[in-house]
Amino acid sequence: MTKSTPTDQVEIPTLVVGTAYSLGAVSEGRIMTMAAASPPNSTDPVDQAAIEVLKANYVGLEVPEVAADDVDPASLKRRYSLARIRRYNRQDGHIDDRVIMRGDLDAVLEKVKISKEQTRLVKKNAAVVIRNGWRPLAVARAKVDHNDIVGAFRLEGFIPVAPEGHAGDDMDVSTGPAVWARVRVWSASLRFQHWLNVAVIFILSCTGIFIMDPFFGATALGTDASGYLMGIIRLIHFIAAFVWLIIGAARIWSAFMSRDRYLRWPSMWPLKSKDDVKHLGQILQHYALIKEHAPLYLAHNPLQQLAYTSVYIACGLQMLSGFVLYGLYHPSNPFWSLVSLPAAWFGVGVVRLFHTLMMFGLWAFVIMHIYLVLRAESLERHGGLSAMINGGVWVKRGAEPVDAPKVE
Ligand code: HEM
Repeated sequence: MTKSTPTDQVEIPTLVVGTAYSLGAVSEGRIMTMAAASPPNSTDPVDQAAIEVLKANYVGLEVPEVAADDVDPASLKRRYSLARIRRYNRQDGHIDDRVIMRGDLDAVLEKVKISKEQTRLVKKNAAVVIRNGWRPLAVARAKVDHNDIVGAFRLEGFIPVAPEGHAGDDMDVSTGPAVWARVRVWSASLRFQHWLNVAVIFILSCTGIFIMDPFFGATALGTDASGYLMGIIRLIHFIAAFVWLIIGAARIWSAFMSRDRYLRWPSMWPLKSKDDVKHLGQILQHYALIKEHAPLYLAHNPLQQLAYTSVYIACGLQMLSGFVLYGLYHPSNPFWSLVSLPAAWFGVGVVRLFHTLMMFGLWAFVIMHIYLVLRAESLERHGGLSAMINGGVWVKRGAEPVDAPKVE
């Protein structure tokens, strides 16, 4: 890899070019030769970087010269350039005229003759370089016949290009907006509910522990002056419980009414398609350190969603068991006595035990949740932790998440 610094304009970024990827017909050096084809003294940073790589790493291969009039630069509408090389020295020693197409991989793929299998292969290899912060710059070529007619374009491969310092295994978001894009995922209402849940579960746990084992105050000291401490603690538990019920109801309401697809009920199903099942296997292998990469999901991947949906169900059961116990205080009220029926079926002790075990289960989830968030935060650097505060995650430009459009 080498670099090139344009001399006349400071705003143009310095680019680096990585090892070329060849589809097999020509060598990597030849791909670089075609990518470097440019008019003399070109100030295009890609030309300069490719030329430097060619000179430094591919001894014996010359930069093909192109007349300025033979270059048709890329534009916003047509994301590839065309350059005609007159008298190109081919790998087999022959000389021909050819046109080189160089540019955005997707744009070039639309123009070339290529099999499905090769498209899949080139995209797979491009995805790897994209994950490492590069942009694949496709290189295709077409022959020009004696009547000056340009034939069909054939994709030869691509060269990875990146602003200097942004590529390789560098996962630091601070490298800037040229490489990373901020994508909004979580709505304000979901984030608000998340943190309210944290507060409410904390209060319910503290008060619940005290109800289970009044370890301080008059009761703990074994004195007669028990005061009303337990009553107050239980009242706090019940108020928090009703707040939690409202949060739960709001979440169900948003699952059916919200326009945000990350809130709607289908997002709760972890395995919606065959692909999700396949991805689940790949993600498990990634977590087991068998596979290096796992499919990218902006919101929750199937494994995460499986865990979160289970937690939703666990929370529902915890509410249910809580209200079964709560109903025991209102035997004369038909609604509450109906709610407390499971206590009659299983026994109050079983329901209390279940309610307590669910608390420890939720704690186990919280501990794992915090560990995994911090782990992902430090390894993947996509800002998952801050996403629950400001709603957005960082994703590398060019990445193609399974559950969202390509990140440009
Ligand atoms: C809607 C949600 C909830 C309701 C309605 C509820 C209700 C209740 C009721 C009525 C009791 C019995 C109080 C007593 O014996 O005087 C209780 C006890 C308890 N609650 Fe909850 N609770 C809820 C959520 C939670 C949560 C989220 C936790 C912890 C994460 C929790 C932990 C406990 C514990 C540890 C006890 C003591 C169990 C025992 O030894 O009897 N509760 N809860």
